[in-house]
Amino acid sequence: MIIALNNKCNLSKDEFVLYEKELSALEYSTSRLILFPSFTNIALHNLPLIALGAQNVSKTEKGAYTGEIAASQLKSFDVTYCLVGHSERRNKYYETSLDTNEKIRNLLSQNIIPILCVGESKGERESNQALGTIERQIATALDGLTEEEKGKIIIAYEPVWSIGTGLIPTLDEISEVLSHIKRLSPGCKTLYGGSANEENIIELRNCPLIDGYLLGGLSLKPLKLQQFITEAEK
Ligand code: PGA
Repeated sequence: MIIALNNKCNLSKDEFVLYEKELSALEYSTSRLILFPSFTNIALHNLPLIALGAQNVSKTEKGAYTGEIAASQLKSFDVTYCLVGHSERRNKYYETSLDTNEKIRNLLSQNIIPILCVGESKGERESNQALGTIERQIATALDGLTEEEKGKIIIAYEPVWSIGTGLIPTLDEISEVLSHIKRLSPGCKTLYGGSANEENIIELRNCPLIDGYLLGGLSLKPLKLQQFITEAEK
């Protein structure tokens, strides 16, 4: 099972060093942990058993692009995974599905595994448009890729209305979306993200289509994270 830890825009240099000390005490057996620190903390990552991810990547390769970080630069820091199309990028920084397609191509050219985030808004869920939205996000993001390339991509279902709100969809709703995603992109691994915590994992773990979790808030609380992992592995 994949446990992806998205620190978002948190942790100063000193805080990150302390945080990794706490993470080093985590006990787990069947999980594969991937940490997504802020760019400023990537070079400080020092836990060989926890894979390194980035929260974003430039849609261009290196060159005159002030403020951007290219996939080849991430590769030089041994980054092996990268989030693409997180709803905070889409909604607060106007990232489009076309952008996600360019980012995915750059990552694959560097052998970095993209974790494509998709999900519907509250309004789209309420008006029965969740599956259509997700289908469009995936179709554009994966457009033009070979079947082999598509097979490398992990897709995280993160309902926008669930992120950081304490609300989660029902297991039936999650299963419906994940089985749709697996039909659109056969063989891909699927994660669930959005307010997953040490309590609702007892319900979430009953969904066999969930291959792992993308954790935001919980990634910053090592004690609760330990409880989550212990329950998820049961
Ligand atoms: P959350 O965030 O776990 O804090 O809801 C998940 C995410 O944004 O990836």
